[in-house]
Amino acid sequence: MSTLTATIETAEDANKKAVQDSMVSPRFYTTDFNAMDRIDVSALRAEWDAMLLEYEGDNNHDHFQRDERFAEEVAQTMPKLSPEMRQEFIDFLVSSLTSEFSGCILYNEIRKNVTNPDIKQLMTYMARDESRHAGFINQSLRDFNLGIDLGDLKRTKAYTFFKPKFIFYATYLSEKIGYARYITIYRQLERNPDKRFHPIFRWFERWCNDEFRHGESFALIMRANPHLLRGLNLYWIRFFLLAVYATMYVRDHTRPMLHEAMGLHSTEYDYAVFRMTNEITKQVFPVALDIDHPAFRAGLTQLFEVSQAFDAARQRGGVVGKVLQGWQALRGLYTFGRLYFLPVVSQPLTSEIRMQPAW
Ligand SMILES: [Fe+2]
Ligand SMILES: [Fe+2]
Repeated sequence: MSTLTATIETAEDANKKAVQDSMVSPRFYTTDFNAMDRIDVSALRAEWDAMLLEYEGDNNHDHFQRDERFAEEVAQTMPKLSPEMRQEFIDFLVSSLTSEFSGCILYNEIRKNVTNPDIKQLMTYMARDESRHAGFINQSLRDFNLGIDLGDLKRTKAYTFFKPKFIFYATYLSEKIGYARYITIYRQLERNPDKRFHPIFRWFERWCNDEFRHGESFALIMRANPHLLRGLNLYWIRFFLLAVYATMYVRDHTRPMLHEAMGLHSTEYDYAVFRMTNEITKQVFPVALDIDHPAFRAGLTQLFEVSQAFDAARQRGGVVGKVLQGWQALRGLYTFGRLYFLPVVSQPLTSEIRMQPAW
C-alpha cells in the first residue's frame, strides 16, 4: 500500500501538494545575494567561458515541445493504470515539477539581485532551462486537469535561507542526482519500451543533459574556490550528501509501484542512482558516502520505516498522535545521526574538472 498521505484528485489538491512542506517534499530556497556577488571564478576562466558557450549554444532549445504522438500515447496508456499507480505517477509529476520550479525561482532571484556578470549570466541560462522543464511537466499535469499555478506557488510556498556555500553543495548534488535519476529511468525504458507508460519519459535523455551541465557549473564554482572543499566544510559536505540521499530514498520508497511499473525496484533504483552520483562527485567532493556499508543500508531502511510511522501518527491525530509523532521524530534524528557518523570514503579529486554525461 502506498504511503502517500493525501490523494490528488483535483487541481486544488495538486496545488496544495506542491505548496506543502514536509521532511521529504522539495523546498524553495533563497540566499545572500551580496555574498553571491563576491564569488570569483577567475581561477578557472577558460573552463568557465567554455561552459557558458555551451549554454549559449542552447542545444535543447527545441526539445521541450510535444510531438504528434504524445497525446495519442497518453490516451492509450493512462487508462490502463490502476488508480493507485495513477496516484503515484501524479505525485511523481507534482514533486518533479516543484523541484524544477524551485531551481527556476532560485536561479531567477539570484540573476535579478546580483551584479557579478559571471554569476548573472550563468543564472540567466539555468533559469531558462528550469523554466522549460517545469513548463513541460505542467503540460502533462494539465492533461489530467491538475495544472499547478506557478505564480501562486511562488508567492505562497515557504522559502528556506541558505548561505551561498550551502546552495552550492545542495544544488550541485540535486542537479547531479537529478541527472542520475532521469538517465537511469531513460535507459531502463529504452531497454523495455513496453514499460514506458507515459510519453514524458522519452524526453528524459536530452533533458537530463541540462541537469548535468547545471551541476558542472556549481562544480566549477567550487573548484575555483577550493576553501569550500576543505577543513570543516567537509563536515557540511557529508551532511548535504546524507540529507540529499536520505530524502530521495524515503521519497522514492513511498512510490514503490511507480518503479515496479518501469521494471525497477525502488531500492535497486536508488542504489544505482547513488552509485552513479558517487562517481560523478569525484570531480568536486573529496569524500563520498559508503553506500555499500551494511549499517548505511540498514539506516536508510530504518529512516523509511520511521517516516511511515510518523505519517501514521499524524493521521491518527489527537494527543496520542502528537506524542507518537514526537517519538518518531526523535527516532528519525537518532537514525540520521548514526548514519552521519558512519565512516566515509576518501577520494582524490579528478584532475580534469569537467565531466561528460556518459551514462
Ligand atoms: Fe531541470
Ligand atoms: Fe537543473
